[in-house]
Amino acid sequence: LPTETEKMMRAHELLRQFYHHILVNTNKGQEALEYLQQRNFTREIIDYFQIGYCLDEWDTSLKFLKAKGFDEDILEKAGLIIRGEKNNTYFDRFRGRIIFPISDYKGNTVAFSGRVLGNGQPKYLNSPETPIFQKSQTLFNFHNARVAIRKKQSVVLFEGFADCIAAFSAGIENGIGTMGTALTEEHIHLIKRNTDQVILCFDADMAGQNATLKAGEMLSNAGCVVRVAIIPDGKDPDEYIIKNGAELFKNVVIGGSIPFMSFKMRFFRIGKNLDNEGDRLAYIEKVLEEISKLDNAVERDIYLRQLAEEFSLSLDALKQQQRKIFYSIR
Ligand code: GTP
Ligand code: MN
Ligand code: MN
Ligand code: MN
Ligand code: MN
Repeated sequence: LPTETEKMMRAHELLRQFYHHILVNTNKGQEALEYLQQRNFTREIIDYFQIGYCLDEWDTSLKFLKAKGFDEDILEKAGLIIRGEKNNTYFDRFRGRIIFPISDYKGNTVAFSGRVLGNGQPKYLNSPETPIFQKSQTLFNFHNARVAIRKKQSVVLFEGFADCIAAFSAGIENGIGTMGTALTEEHIHLIKRNTDQVILCFDADMAGQNATLKAGEMLSNAGCVVRVAIIPDGKDPDEYIIKNGAELFKNVVIGGSIPFMSFKMRFFRIGKNLDNEGDRLAYIEKVLEEISKLDNAVERDIYLRQLAEEFSLSLDALKQQQRKIFYSIR
């Protein structure tokens, strides 16, 4: 007899196929398909990521799975249906949403993320935590990207599914995404089993930049070599690709990624007026503190020289101050 885990995974697999079928083959999926096409999702991409649509009806998914022998208890536990106010009424969780299947690292579908068509709240609705799905251990597209990650010996980390999928269409096959949550130590462990070179490609807005700083620190502390891809004009990768095309994204944004330390030197300027002496001193002190965290003497030298040049300071004075900071924080 199948275990509970096996049943939950089987239910996800059947629903993934059902949702995909509704999207690509039925009239009721037409509006969702048009929404995706208008966002540049090709039929090839829709098939590759097995994107689907859950009908905007009360319990179509439940009826479909009941007919296949599943009962409400297990489907509720798997996060696929929700129990209503009145006892023993259940309804589909993802009603009226575009469905992005989420796999575990072995490739089993273990969750879904559902996006509203257009504007609506919440924009994305994820499966809850279940016995087969923990957000802190799940990375979108990780199973598919793994061969490319190993081959290239690098991984590109995105903030959203749409970005990861758009980047894949643009030829970036080693891209993965978090579930819209912060990067965890478990995620880093999964990544490090395959590569220690990580390119962060989050949204250009403040939330994305703050998340870049956090994720970059965690990855660096775990021994990864971190670079940051900068998206100009406050966009996210998906919007950038639509506006500027695949080649510029690959060659300029990803190809032109900068070391994490260079990112930090840009980041700590935000909100500071470097013509102001107080701001300038605070900035230099902050950068020296960051330089002190670098283990590699050559790298420290490179950034000290950059700082000396930019602010017309003597390299000796900067080195002296940096050493002082090093001994005070270690
Ligand atoms: P699109 O608008 O479809 O392009 O999505 P996006 O990836 O650009 O969304 P955004 O930058 O706003 O958010 C990044 C990621 O955070 C998304 O991919 C989701 O994983 C997650 N996220 C965004 N909005 C929500 C939400 O309302 N609920 C939940 N649970 N997650 C969200
Ligand atoms: Mn198909
Ligand atoms: Mn964002
Ligand atoms: Mn975004
Ligand atoms: Mn987006």
